Amino acid sequence: MSFSQQLLKRKSVAALTNAENGLKRTLTAKDLTILGVGAIIGAGIFVLTGIAAAKYAGPAIVLSFVFAGIACALAALCYSELAAMIPVSGSAYSYAYATMGELMAWIIGWDLILEYALASSTVAIGWAGYLNSFLNSIDVHLPSYLTTAYLADPAQGFINLPAVIIVLLLTGLLVVGIRQSAIFNFVMVLIKLAVIVVFIIAGAGHIQTENWSNFTPFGFGGVLTGAGVIFFAYIGFDAVSTAAQEAINPKRDVPIGIIGSLIVCTVLYILVAGVLTGVISYTELNVAAPIAVAVDHIGMSWLSPIIKLAAIAGLTSVMLVLLMGQSRIFYAMANDRLLPPLFAEIHPQFQTPHVSTIVVGFAVALLAGFMPIEKLGELVSIGTLFAFVLVCGGVLVLRSTHPELPRHFKCPAVPVVPIAGILVCLGLMAGLPLDTWVRLLVWLLIGFAIYFGYGIKHSQLR
Ligand code: ALA
Repeated sequence: MSFSQQLLKRKSVAALTNAENGLKRTLTAKDLTILGVGAIIGAGIFVLTGIAAAKYAGPAIVLSFVFAGIACALAALCYSELAAMIPVSGSAYSYAYATMGELMAWIIGWDLILEYALASSTVAIGWAGYLNSFLNSIDVHLPSYLTTAYLADPAQGFINLPAVIIVLLLTGLLVVGIRQSAIFNFVMVLIKLAVIVVFIIAGAGHIQTENWSNFTPFGFGGVLTGAGVIFFAYIGFDAVSTAAQEAINPKRDVPIGIIGSLIVCTVLYILVAGVLTGVISYTELNVAAPIAVAVDHIGMSWLSPIIKLAAIAGLTSVMLVLLMGQSRIFYAMANDRLLPPLFAEIHPQFQTPHVSTIVVGFAVALLAGFMPIEKLGELVSIGTLFAFVLVCGGVLVLRSTHPELPRHFKCPAVPVVPIAGILVCLGLMAGLPLDTWVRLLVWLLIGFAIYFGYGIKHSQLR
């Protein structure tokens, strides 16, 4: 019996049945790679790159992308090993369940809410900002009480309605089916990739090397801070692993999806960052739409609205995949009875975890509609890095506790790669502000309260 089967057996016959007959297996290696690219390319490159270059790294933002990419590559190798061994829904939560026990799994599942649900809300607000800017450029002006959250601006705001609507629409799509969602995601990914490639090719001809002459204006420290900020741009490759139970051949294809999507995005990010800081001085990039500003600067203003539309498409697919990932994690947690069993229900016709998808969708829509989420965005990064640390740790634990198990994908150079992954991610966490750490701790304490109040009494293991 394979390890994943043993794991599922331990999780009860019900879980096994769900794993085999519940979610529909329709995703191929190509779908999974596109899913990853869908989750990765979004607000990070379309919004944060300019700010990070202007305020922290200068043209050396290229190096920040290299460093953050290395951190993610180390984590991705570890994710791939575990995803191929334990090809079930739930990603890092399920790996922690198998390797470090229920309490640790709960902690990571709770922590992943920061990555998936909170990032979806943050990206929804970015999406609404881009939509607004696009509407303004065609002379359509929405009243501010419909575009601004009350808690962001009590004087002018009430609800960020576009953000709420897009989240609810995507939730509906996810309920209807994983295949339909993958097709929609594919279209969005094509649009954003096409525009990014056009920007790289068109911009390359306008690079003025003197823009790079002061390459590290903020020193090496600035490069590292920049890496911490643009780390957000890489978040999402791990979402591929949440779809393991919907993959046709997860043991082979999930590692391909994780590593393939990360490679594609890293290459594109480094090229975009190089072209961006090459065509315009980094000092002019402290703006919300840096790529649009760059094309205006080189006299290609016609490309600017297309870039805004591509950003809207890009951010849509990020939300779609992150919402999907969050609902699959809740599904896995409910299968273990750490959350109410309702979350593990599968729709009889669509074969999707509809209850957890709808609950996640409403919660994310509420946050996006009423909260000033920008500050909480830093929580997304710290939560994700924490998950990466635990996944790298999980590889080390399993290699020593279960060395005999078949590994369909082997992380190379163990223990160097997992240990380096842990150290690099801890280093990036250390660069985040103290109040973000405090929020992470408060969030984890709330999680403990729920676990000891509910999970521990209902859990499958008891
Ligand atoms: N990586 C995703 C983005 O940049 C979260 O929007």
